[in-house]
Amino acid sequence: MKGVVVVGTQWGDEGKGKITDFLAEKADVVVRFQGGNNAGHTIKFDGKKFALHLIPSGIFRKDAINVLANGMVINPKAALEELEMLKQGGVNEYNLAISNRAHVVLPYHIELDGLFEELKEDSKKVGTTKKGIGPTYADKYSRIGIRMCDFIDPETFYDKLTDNLNYYNKLFKLFGKEEMNIEAIYTEYSKYAEVLSKFVTDTSILLNKAFDDDKKVLFEGAQGALLCTDHGTYPFVTSSSPTAASVPLNTGISPKYITDVIGITKAYSTRVGSGYFATEFENKVAKQIRDIGHEYGTTTGRPRRIGWIDTVVLRHTRRVSGITGLSVMLLDVLTNIETLKICVAYKLEDELIDYIPANIKDYENCEPVYIEVPGWTEDITQVAKFSDLPLNAQNYLNKISELSETPVSIFSVGPDRTQTVVLEDLM
Ligand code: GDP
Ligand code: IMO
Ligand code: MG
Repeated sequence: MKGVVVVGTQWGDEGKGKITDFLAEKADVVVRFQGGNNAGHTIKFDGKKFALHLIPSGIFRKDAINVLANGMVINPKAALEELEMLKQGGVNEYNLAISNRAHVVLPYHIELDGLFEELKEDSKKVGTTKKGIGPTYADKYSRIGIRMCDFIDPETFYDKLTDNLNYYNKLFKLFGKEEMNIEAIYTEYSKYAEVLSKFVTDTSILLNKAFDDDKKVLFEGAQGALLCTDHGTYPFVTSSSPTAASVPLNTGISPKYITDVIGITKAYSTRVGSGYFATEFENKVAKQIRDIGHEYGTTTGRPRRIGWIDTVVLRHTRRVSGITGLSVMLLDVLTNIETLKICVAYKLEDELIDYIPANIKDYENCEPVYIEVPGWTEDITQVAKFSDLPLNAQNYLNKISELSETPVSIFSVGPDRTQTVVLEDLM
């Protein structure tokens, strides 16, 4: 039995899709447990490239069961578009299960996402992906959400949709927005419900049975721990918990089934959307990293903000998410940088601190304290073992491991499946 969780240690886009797809070779079940199509996970193999948003990255492994668990928020139209995209890419054979307790993202959530952002003054905008994620989770906790089990039951869907739109249309009217047509949404979305209904099931029962049968289960986090509603840089966060701690709740399993937590981390840092980013910098080197690493959002196409690696962040994520090993990604992107900086602590009002302040104003006043290490110039994109890395790259990985107090289990030297070096067998 194995329960391995893949979590983002930073602000998302660390390469979780790549590592999930890689580890999925040996997994029996692959599970997305939170978030929705705000995620954008890129997978490359055999000269093909796929961007997944809702469908788990185990979808390319014919034998694996892919689960969208109860903690997710699912846009049915986007899910069907993604299945169509996969079909066009030759991916037809798969095993998919959608939780009957997952919540459904509907057009009014997307409208509300835009409206709430629009109403905020610039410095307070979160810079969301505008996929309706926050408003769908808000409905869930306000107990007015529409779950998959409601969605595929035509009467319940119509009833709940009517209640919700009667309410939200008043809000849209108040803010000068066009009201939404209940009948039109019902007619369009009922068709999606009909197609998706064959996948909808109690995935908690499915997962518990998998563990009872001694199967290997891989959990694929979306976003990153610093975007966690509880442990991230609130309020500049998403509306779910991307930490390993949220897996039992978000999938309906016992915490005892989690055996390993692999923290996916870029060899540097990036962030999209707003919010303080202590190690951010913008100069020739940042531009080089953005260009070579193709640092543009998979979901929104926005240029990603670039920063040095921050080991305060890594230690924070290790603590709140219980990381047992790191997978250091995009190491190749740092080739040809003379000196690399690693943030080891923050300075807050002349005091050295080793944590992320809860109060965002305090966080904004934190200055990074760096050590500098020499870079390397050799092409590392074909490296197949640790000892083949240039000495300075070896030292860089060792330093990250030492400072984050976590062993490096995997490192990655390119976007393709084959450009992955495993130091510790995980599945
Ligand atoms: P995710 O959201 O965590 O799955 O990450 P994204 O897919 O949004 O962003 C990671 C990007 O880095 C994608 O474009 C990947 O193809 C790419 N990538 C992953 N690992 C590597 C690597 O080791 N080197 C390079 N150059 N690119 C990588
Ligand atoms: P993956 O899984 C990077 C960011 C948005 C915004 C904030 C809130 O690809 O790593 P939301 O739409 O969730 O309400 O936006 O969170 N964000 C991500 N940033 N990668 C992601 O997912 C993200 N999902 C959301 O940019 O700052
Ligand atoms: Mg991404």
